[in-house]
Amino acid sequence: MSAKDKHGPDYPASPPRKAYKQELHDLQVELVKLQKHKPERGRWSLADIPYDTIDPTRIASDPYLFYMLAAASLVEINSDLYTRNLLEYFHSDTDVTNWLVQDWQHEEIQHGAALRRYVNTVWPDFAWDRSCLRFSADYARFCRPELLGPTQTLEFAARCVVETGTASLYTMLSRLSPEPVLTGLLSHIRSDEIRHYRHFYHFFLKYQVRESHGYYAVARTLWHRAREIENEDAYYAFKHVYLERHPERRFYDDAYRIFRKHYVALARQYYPYEMAARMFLKPLGLNPRIKRVTLPLLTAGAKRLYS
Ligand SMILES: [Fe+2]
Ligand SMILES: [Fe+2]
Repeated sequence: MSAKDKHGPDYPASPPRKAYKQELHDLQVELVKLQKHKPERGRWSLADIPYDTIDPTRIASDPYLFYMLAAASLVEINSDLYTRNLLEYFHSDTDVTNWLVQDWQHEEIQHGAALRRYVNTVWPDFAWDRSCLRFSADYARFCRPELLGPTQTLEFAARCVVETGTASLYTMLSRLSPEPVLTGLLSHIRSDEIRHYRHFYHFFLKYQVRESHGYYAVARTLWHRAREIENEDAYYAFKHVYLERHPERRFYDDAYRIFRKHYVALARQYYPYEMAARMFLKPLGLNPRIKRVTLPLLTAGAKRLYS
């Protein structure tokens, strides 16, 4: 960490932009596949990540990547808190519970473990375990079963929002990563998150046939869950990374506001707005004509939020 970080955020120069048009094209192809194929399993493990070739000099002085990676690792590794609730909620559908236990939970926790190892390698003075214990205690309050969607169908729509958020976040981080091992790791995680979206969307469509919900009910659910991710997951993860980093300070919302300000500046440059808008809108089942109008509006609206 740089000395400046102790007194406030200071984000270093960003790496050059990549070929967004090609990337966007690839993402669109991936999204088209959503409705055509049953999703497959992921195929990577921590043994595939060359941690011993990490070049800490390319990243260690970047306070914002530290906060983003450490915070993401805390949320991911606590996925078991969510899984228990989801298993209870969907206990009558073994297709869903088998996938949640055998694939989804395993992969989410692996994301946390892989990011934890990266953070521990680049920032060895950060007490990750202690930070995680405190975060888990705080975060567990928000993982109660009664906070799941009002119906099973709507909970699947809400899970699509969560996976849209993570897929977009890791796309952004992989675009701005200045360190090749991190870029590779983030690409693996990003692919998993898109596949998770695909699974939840598949279940959503299946359940819509049984207990169909109209446009407004689905839209309300999508909006609510998007707000919760920002207000709870990101906020509390940042808080506990910050408190571990600065044990001598008290935590005030201003610290998070300053962090968000810099996050927003990065998002303007690297966030995959159009991909996020497409994934967000998909459960609404808009007809192509309305989607043609809505997609640019939502993309522009999201960009304006980040300006
Ligand atoms: Fe994840
Ligand atoms: Fe996921």
